[in-house]
Amino acid sequence: MLSAQALVEQALQARQKAYAPYSHYLVGAALLTAGGLIIHGCNVENASYGATICAERVALTAAVAQGKREFVALAVATQNGGSPCGICRQVMAELGPTMVVYITDEAGNFRTTTVAALLPDWFVGENLAT
Ligand code: THU
Repeated sequence: MLSAQALVEQALQARQKAYAPYSHYLVGAALLTAGGLIIHGCNVENASYGATICAERVALTAAVAQGKREFVALAVATQNGGSPCGICRQVMAELGPTMVVYITDEAGNFRTTTVAALLPDWFVGENLAT
């Protein structure tokens, strides 16, 4: 199993690819699949601000597009250790409900949490089967 520190380092590297000319808030994500693959994500902003995509969702959607469906951990890197936004938490819960989440600042100081702790009682697909 890859160490937390190694995945955090990958998120810091992914952060360097962020496209954030409007907020200047660079975010990187590194997603660990059940098969041991690491998939990067970064935030990709847009002049039409609402079209911006967060780093976490870039990593998760890229992974699905690569045929990956089982995820073990996600590391998220920002300048100051900011926590994932609500939309990303919902997407994390849909695709990786058992994931461990590492949240790091740019110096590599990180804390460990889980998707379940970040978003308890999330909306699930079963609710749609009426
Ligand atoms: N951002 C992320 O990439 N992930 C989050 O969980 C929170 C916010 C990005 C979106 C935008 O490009 C910038 O950070 C400021 O909101």
